[in-house]
Amino acid sequence: MRVLDLFSGIGNFSLGLERAGGFRTVGFCEIEPFARRVLEKHWPDVPCSHDVLQREFTPGEADVVCGGFPCQDVSQAGGGAGLAGSRSGLWWELLRAIRVVRPLYALVENVAALLDRGMGTVVGDLAEIGYDAQWHCIPASSVGAEHHRDRVWIVSHPDEEHGETRVGILPYDEGTLQQAHHRNRASVWLASTLPPPRVADGSTAWLDRRERTEVLGNSVVPQIPEIIGRAIMQQVYIHGEADMKAIIRWPGGEKVIEGAELGDPRVKEELDRLAELRVQDVTLEFQSEFLV
Ligand SMILES: C[S@@+](CC[C@H](N)C(=O)[O-])C[C@H]1O[C@@H](n2cnc3c(N)ncnc32)[C@H](O)[C@@H]1O
Repeated sequence: MRVLDLFSGIGNFSLGLERAGGFRTVGFCEIEPFARRVLEKHWPDVPCSHDVLQREFTPGEADVVCGGFPCQDVSQAGGGAGLAGSRSGLWWELLRAIRVVRPLYALVENVAALLDRGMGTVVGDLAEIGYDAQWHCIPASSVGAEHHRDRVWIVSHPDEEHGETRVGILPYDEGTLQQAHHRNRASVWLASTLPPPRVADGSTAWLDRRERTEVLGNSVVPQIPEIIGRAIMQQVYIHGEADMKAIIRWPGGEKVIEGAELGDPRVKEELDRLAELRVQDVTLEFQSEFLV
């Protein structure tokens, strides 16, 4: 599914969705130069618009629109202006994108304080443009992070009149999180986090460190969009809206397995066969053909 990632920061929303499989980011929008450089490094071929206020949207340009709009005015630490503030008021730009693009899923993230400062407006705005919403607070600590970082996650999709209501997509249940927790045990988490900011002389290094800390502080933990992405893909297959194929490649060979699912035994069998033959440099890719 094609993803349009707004207020992209360093792209952790996209990172999580792409890790889930079946998602491919086709556009970013980020105003901060440092974050733009990080996006450019990891997604050199994906266009990144600058200011969302200047971004024109096209109907159908993406299947998923996602964004963690700025939280400063909503946050407990901010001045409390809520959505009336100039930064968190950029919510209406995300809404404009959803209204024009009309994606199958709109994913919105913000600080948990949104529940007291604007949630009714956000959900009401979505309803007005024909989108239902499900939401849950999911702390980063529930997926193994060493910090709490409670955030509200909204999964929105066209309502019954404008599409189909998908009940229960938000996979926040004990079972899912147990699994996620298992996969992301603290030791694994710590081993996988970025090295500490570089320390060197001079103000450039200090700026670099400050900028790194800032973008990391703003970013989502990719483990959560990854869980949501997996749940979405399950729904997409349940609704018969996508065909997925697995492509296994090795130097001089390729095998395509049509109609493959995540964890498909045919894929495992082929990988085992190649391993037995000691074939090196084997890659596995899942490709989805979206049918709607
Ligand atoms: C809460 S952060 C989102 C972080 C992102 N989800 C991530 O995982 O890294 C909000 C982002 O919106 C960006 N932003 C603020 N105003 C913007 C504008 N007018 N146009 C585009 N991006 C903007 C900020 O620079 C910031 O990176």
